[in-house]
Amino acid sequence: MKEDIERVLLTEEEIQKKVQEIGEKISADFADKNPIFVGVLKGCFVFMADLMRCVTIPCTMDFMAVSSYSGTNSTGAVKINKDLNQDIGGRHIILVEDILDSGVTLNYLKNYLMVSKPASVSIVTLLDKPARRRADIHADYSCFVVPDAFVVGYGLDYNEHYRNLPYIGILKPEVYS
Ligand code: IMP
Ligand code: MG
Repeated sequence: MKEDIERVLLTEEEIQKKVQEIGEKISADFADKNPIFVGVLKGCFVFMADLMRCVTIPCTMDFMAVSSYSGTNSTGAVKINKDLNQDIGGRHIILVEDILDSGVTLNYLKNYLMVSKPASVSIVTLLDKPARRRADIHADYSCFVVPDAFVVGYGLDYNEHYRNLPYIGILKPEVYS
């Protein structure tokens, strides 16, 4: 697995430090708002597990599963494979994503959730790759801005692999070309 990584972009220590910071910020901003953290599966699972342990306010969690990607290229189409099973009307929603790339997925999800009239929808993303943005969407909380390279680890995959790497690494192009 390690031999497929060109270089480590973010170490475990760097990630933990930043996740702690963002957790504190969200805790301050949403104190007394009892937000629902909605993880976007599967990529969010490692980040969300760490983030939630840095959030110190009352909150609940739920998950959605979407697919929009095959390999390294977005198909542009978003499909909801698992929806929320609770009423979110009047509630504060915090979407938790692994990476904001073209923005198509989060833009679609945000609009989809808005239909149920929540009090607010905020976005927290581990990584932000602004170079490839196509949708008019931004993250309210972003841990790291990353260059236009395909990255894996800490929940992020290439064809379902590498999610279990504890750091974020740039995948060698020959692996996917
Ligand atoms: P978007 O709709 O283009 O913003 O795509 C978001 C989704 O694409 C993320 O949740 C990831 O699953 C996937 N994705 C985008 N860039 C990368 C990357 O560099 N590595 C792994 N997955 C990525
Ligand atoms: Mg994903």
